[in-house]
Amino acid sequence: GKGNFRHFMEKELHEHPIVIGDTLHRMIDPATRLPVLPALDLDLNTISRICISACGSAFYAGLTARYWIEEYARIAVDADVASEFRYREPPLHSDELGIVVSQSGETADTMAALRYIRTQGCKVMSVVNVPESTMARESDLILETIAGPEISVASTKAFTAQLTVLAGFALALAHARGTLSRDRIEALVAALMELPAKAAQILNEEDEIRRLATQIQDARDVLFFGRGSMMPIALEGALKLKELSYIHAEGYPAGEMKHGPIALIDASVPVIAVVPSGPLFEKTASNLQEAAARGGRIIVLSDSEGAKKLAGIASEVVILPDCDPFVAPILYAIPVQMLAYQVAILKGTDVDQPRNLAKSVTVE
Ligand code: F6R
Repeated sequence: GKGNFRHFMEKELHEHPIVIGDTLHRMIDPATRLPVLPALDLDLNTISRICISACGSAFYAGLTARYWIEEYARIAVDADVASEFRYREPPLHSDELGIVVSQSGETADTMAALRYIRTQGCKVMSVVNVPESTMARESDLILETIAGPEISVASTKAFTAQLTVLAGFALALAHARGTLSRDRIEALVAALMELPAKAAQILNEEDEIRRLATQIQDARDVLFFGRGSMMPIALEGALKLKELSYIHAEGYPAGEMKHGPIALIDASVPVIAVVPSGPLFEKTASNLQEAAARGGRIIVLSDSEGAKKLAGIASEVVILPDCDPFVAPILYAIPVQMLAYQVAILKGTDVDQPRNLAKSVTVE
């Protein structure tokens, strides 16, 4: 049941810390503090390329993994929504690795992508939350998310668990291929290990998030901006907001703003930026500056350092815990999901069962 929570979604949001912790516990060897993968008949050193396929939020987890794997393991990664991938039938070479990501392990398009990848002679790794699922059965390697059952139609804890698994996988690849030093890997693992406590801290910011929700509940359109590995979190924020509150929302890589979406910006369109301190902070900040100059109402999600720098242009700031830029996508997924939840509460929509949606999309 939902215990003392109003909705399954609220309960599942509160499970972020434990789910991230359990997923890390399964992956990180306490003795070596390195991620360990289940035995696989595949040499991590010979993977020439990776293709990731998934749908919806699971696809955004895959998109984030693309940034991690390319940066840390130096392997080229393609990421596609499964419904496009399966019919595009891209040529694959047998030394490429396919990765599918799915909470249910039953999504029809993702399943078809998995089967297509196998017809190309490639191994497939699945990141699934249901170990008895069809995808798990048909994969060469399963990396399990330890999220427990997810009842709310909108995915929450399964998403952060997918990100956690994929982050660990990127480090395992980097270790096997020698693209990161042992010290650097240990530092990144330590950053992952701090996530449960920081996730719990964010869940305590409910009042802040509710205040933010009142600022956007009457908007017709909302834009989410991020760059680099935060870009998929902008997409996640927009998807959650539209599915839960029925407000039109779009996520964009902030650098694309001047190539079109800036035409939409005026005082009636809130711009929500997921912008932690890190290598792309200044770039994102200058994109936000441009939006502010067009009268945009800028809502900033950042750490205390970033918030200080953006105070002059932001109409609202939510300060999140400091973290290594590596783990920021996992942490920042939580407030954007909480925001969608709070807007839905204000609008009185059906939180756990949004209109027209099904939990598991087993037909294409
Ligand atoms: C969004 C959401 C969906 C699912 C998508 C994939 O909140 O829940 O976008 O992420 O339908 O489902 P799975 O992960 O079961 O393949």
